[in-house]
Amino acid sequence: MTFDEALGLATTGAAPAEAWLAPLLACGDDDAPRLYAAGDAARQAGVGSDVHLRGLIEFSSYCRKDCAYCGLRRTNRVAQRYRLDIDAIVATAREAEALGYRSVVLQSGEDVWFTPARLEAAIRDIKESTDLAIALSVGERDRETYQRWFDAGADRYLLRIETTDPALFAALHPDDDLAARMACLYALRDIGYQLGTGVMVGLPGQTPEMLARDVIWMHDLGAEMIGVGPFIPHPGTPLADAAGGTVEGTLRLVAVLRLVFPHAHLPATTAMGTLHPLGRERALEAGANVMMPNVTPTEIRPKYEIYPGKICLADDARHCRGCITGRIVGLGRTIGTDHGHVKRVKAEQEMD
Ligand code: 5AD
Ligand code: SF4
Ligand code: FES
Repeated sequence: MTFDEALGLATTGAAPAEAWLAPLLACGDDDAPRLYAAGDAARQAGVGSDVHLRGLIEFSSYCRKDCAYCGLRRTNRVAQRYRLDIDAIVATAREAEALGYRSVVLQSGEDVWFTPARLEAAIRDIKESTDLAIALSVGERDRETYQRWFDAGADRYLLRIETTDPALFAALHPDDDLAARMACLYALRDIGYQLGTGVMVGLPGQTPEMLARDVIWMHDLGAEMIGVGPFIPHPGTPLADAAGGTVEGTLRLVAVLRLVFPHAHLPATTAMGTLHPLGRERALEAGANVMMPNVTPTEIRPKYEIYPGKICLADDARHCRGCITGRIVGLGRTIGTDHGHVKRVKAEQEMD
């Protein structure tokens, strides 16, 4: 199938996504700008010009897992570990609200110091003392724990599937299981969280066909937020010498996701901004409509080193807020002023 045939099928909804996903994901550099423009147009039609902001609180760099790509993996002996206590997490969330955020993401490695009760206490305190929406991004836990945090007031949950290819997932996750990760996502969905997932682009051995299957799986899951970013090799991991992902490869996926998910929340990720100074802007112009500026206290930011070269390590939350505002307004876009909840009625009307 040619690029033009695939783009025609994608933009008219004349064929199931299976037919055109891989050809678009594998498109050449000459064709890519038209794919990005199609993603941008679908974004405008589906979710308008608002960019929703979520303040990202990286509250613990401890992790029990050993994912092959990640700088926080437990066997990376030179990783610096810290955790904010509950009061500090709540204080950081309040500062985010004072800076104008309507929504925060509480993210950490899989740190079991945060028992169900401890994280529940943080969620309840934030909910009682602010009007913030809360997303959790703390990895795999059991269903009862997910339910408990939802009952405490958590609105959304972000858990990337990373890849749905069984062999690639197994190669990257020595202590993890694809079926178990999927079961976590099904449980989160069934509990009622606004559901976020996503994948990395440019993993070793990953192909456009694999990414196409990832997109279909995430669609069948009913994902409402999909975060994708380039894989950036970390020197303290077994994948230190891997090639890694690219801005262009990730933009193809962002645009394709927008064609498949007209109403979803698609962040322009920090990893895009790390690979190129305008990487996030380019994602916003290929289909993305969310940004997650860092509100983690500046002193500890360098210790949350998932990948090297992360941006904003010397900046504070106020500075990032202003920086992001300038970038969004500079693109002629607007900043969402509500909580940026997913729109469920519309989501159910999405194409297959
Ligand atoms: N490069 C890019 N993204 C990474 N993540 C973890 N390690 C890396 C890396 N080296 C992503 C994973 C995880 C998210 C929080 O960060 O997709 O889900
Ligand atoms: Fe831990 Fe998440 Fe990094 Fe895996 S990706 S090592 S679970 S912080
Ligand atoms: Fe942090 Fe630009 S977003 S300095």
